Amino acid sequence: MKGIVLAGGKGSRLYPITMGVSKQLLPVYDCPMIYYPLSVLLRAGISEILIISSPEHLSGFQNLLEDGAEFGVSFSYAEQLAPKGIAESLIIAEPFLNGDACTLILGDNLFYGDGVEKGLQKAIKSEGASIFSYPVKDPQRYGVIGYDKHGNPISIIEKPQKPASNRAVTGLYVYPNTAVEVAKGLKPSARGEIEITDINQYFLESGDLSVIDLSKSDSWFDTGTIDSLYEATDYVRALESRIGVKVGCIEEAAFLSDFMSIDQVAARAEKLSNTSYGDYLNQIVQSHGG
Ligand code: DAU
Repeated sequence: MKGIVLAGGKGSRLYPITMGVSKQLLPVYDCPMIYYPLSVLLRAGISEILIISSPEHLSGFQNLLEDGAEFGVSFSYAEQLAPKGIAESLIIAEPFLNGDACTLILGDNLFYGDGVEKGLQKAIKSEGASIFSYPVKDPQRYGVIGYDKHGNPISIIEKPQKPASNRAVTGLYVYPNTAVEVAKGLKPSARGEIEITDINQYFLESGDLSVIDLSKSDSWFDTGTIDSLYEATDYVRALESRIGVKVGCIEEAAFLSDFMSIDQVAARAEKLSNTSYGDYLNQIVQSHGG
């Protein structure tokens, strides 16, 4: 299982902020946004990860994360020349995947909770494709799942005017390698993109799609608008100050998945000393006898 983080796009809903900087490098509390999806992949035991972004922003991610050796993992990079659709990431990733299955996550999606971790472990073990749904107040903004009277998923529609349910498709997808060929066969939608929803619809119709329902006790934010960005920041800050939990700590995720040694965590703590992030890493080191 390999991982892909899609971190391109124009971020136009955050203009003027994102006119000079990639959206996925903006802070969500004390971490760059991309730390959040990265930590989901690392915690799921995925150590080979491809980061895709636009040609003008890719170097920012390379400066931030380098080759991953510091975290005991491997980060690779690829350009998406223009934002032609989320599904294009699978085509761009074809040489990196080299026949393997993948977990794709959007660079502006923040997940937290047991349901996410357990659901992803289950999805990675299963043969087919898996997507994750989350109950939302404004389903028109997302891919939306329709269900039959027994609760089985029967449709997935991108940004429907009349949503069949309140369950949105989140930006976390697990696919067998065949998804690459499916992506290659897609025609652009009315908005000129090859849609990830069409891939999900394909696996639904072929009986190879599992929908994992996240509950309200899990958290999901798509941080693509200024309000959702601040909402996510407030949430992360509250979790940290009230219960001492840090969301999006890639060192902790890599350490818990046995990719990173405690000495490597200590080295990162040293590098980030004089920050609350560095203090948190030091606590991890101390609680493991370092
Ligand atoms: O967040 C979940 C939703 O993401 C799903 O419910 C929808 O089914 C899915 O289509 C997508 O909807 P959005 O309209 O919110 O996608 P958006 O265009 O905002 O892109 C999501 C992220 O992916 C964003 O951070 C930019 C990045 N992206 C997007 C496209 C289209 C790219 O890097 N390249 C692209 O070509």
